[in-house]
Amino acid sequence: MPQSAVERASEVRLSDIISALSFALDLTEGQRMGHSARACALGMRMADALQLSREDRSDLYYALLLKDSGCSSNAARLFQIFGGDERRLKRESRRVNWTRTSLETFQYVRRNTAPELPFLRRTRKIISVAMNSRNNGLETFGLRCERGAQIALRMGFSEATAAGIRSLDEHWDGSGYPLGLRGQGIPLFSRIMNLCQTWELFGTEQGPAQALHVLRQRAGRWFDPDLVRIAASLGSDQHLWESLRGDELRKYVMSLEPGRSIHADDDRLDEICEAFAEVIDAKSPFTYRHSRGVARASLLIAQGLGLDPETCTMVRRAALLHDLGKLSVPNSVLDKPGNLTREEWSAIRLHPYYTQKILQRIDGFENLAFVASAHHEKLDGSGYFRGLYACQLTLPARIIAVADNYDALSAARPYREALPQEKVLQLISSEVPHALDGDCFAVLKQNSDVLARTA
Ligand SMILES: [Fe+2]
Ligand SMILES: [Fe+2]
Repeated sequence: MPQSAVERASEVRLSDIISALSFALDLTEGQRMGHSARACALGMRMADALQLSREDRSDLYYALLLKDSGCSSNAARLFQIFGGDERRLKRESRRVNWTRTSLETFQYVRRNTAPELPFLRRTRKIISVAMNSRNNGLETFGLRCERGAQIALRMGFSEATAAGIRSLDEHWDGSGYPLGLRGQGIPLFSRIMNLCQTWELFGTEQGPAQALHVLRQRAGRWFDPDLVRIAASLGSDQHLWESLRGDELRKYVMSLEPGRSIHADDDRLDEICEAFAEVIDAKSPFTYRHSRGVARASLLIAQGLGLDPETCTMVRRAALLHDLGKLSVPNSVLDKPGNLTREEWSAIRLHPYYTQKILQRIDGFENLAFVASAHHEKLDGSGYFRGLYACQLTLPARIIAVADNYDALSAARPYREALPQEKVLQLISSEVPHALDGDCFAVLKQNSDVLARTA
């Protein structure tokens, strides 16, 4: 059982926490973990070649790591429009030149639209999606980019960082989204970021030579031709790609942070956790405000049990981030109204594993990562993802488990309505004390009126 010291803000480097959280954004985008970090490293090489100032390089560094922070906000809508796995849809969207009407784009739509529907209904849906592709693109890219920019501002990053994210999907020839900006009218950061995300994707999957081939093909259409020339001059550097492979990627990217490393103070850390809770909650209409609800209930229980202020702060932050791994689950599973298949259920059961995997990378977050990832564990060993027992579950972990149950039962789910308070408490009490902690539940019950009033 991890028992490291309670995290202190002075221990947390901004590049450490943001680069770790960028791995969660990769999951939502259906990308390989490390995609944003690798794109960031490529972008920093471009920034060097362009001789950007240290301040600009710092703004660009964080814009690259957070470029997909709006990605969860259009996930449910994409599932609604296409009726398929939106993560696969997003992953493929970078490979296909979707700005041109072609057999390739039609096949992309066909592959990703409502695979479960009977033939005739599916055909009608494919035609409807293909005919509305421009409007769908405006809506979903617009939502994603604006939300991403807002999240970056909320975390305390600059307007330049936010502007880079806002125009990420604009294309040099004006065919991008959401505003159809063109040429030099697109912020330089956005031009670099758009190129780097495609460069990384093809470079990692198909090799540096193929990646440069794609960049050259799209020069003057998607990308600024001058930036493509710079990428081509850097692309033959074998060392560049070697440094992006392997377990040391995050350390490498942290070493590229421009200037002196920034440390997050307590307020900044809270802002980052709260902003990420919004990213997590935006993934599905059914979890809207869930992380913040669990944080409220957890803090109330922790304070009611008399835990010290530092532990209360850690519990609240762990609660805000507890469902981080849910960003890995497609909305076709999260928002499914019927019973889940065995495979779908396996995807759900993995989400606390991803929470742990991502958060434990952050220096000083070991205890928080354990607490956050234990929210589905039960005292009798019947929980997931590790099947821990009472003797392995710390009080903070027990608090979050009770708070998570409370908030989940209090909200509607795809397969049932929200339950009244009395029923919620009755259901939780049926799991006390064999599965859920009695002391935590007693404090929750005492304060349930406060929680209901402030929900
Ligand atoms: Fe969960
Ligand atoms: Fe949860």
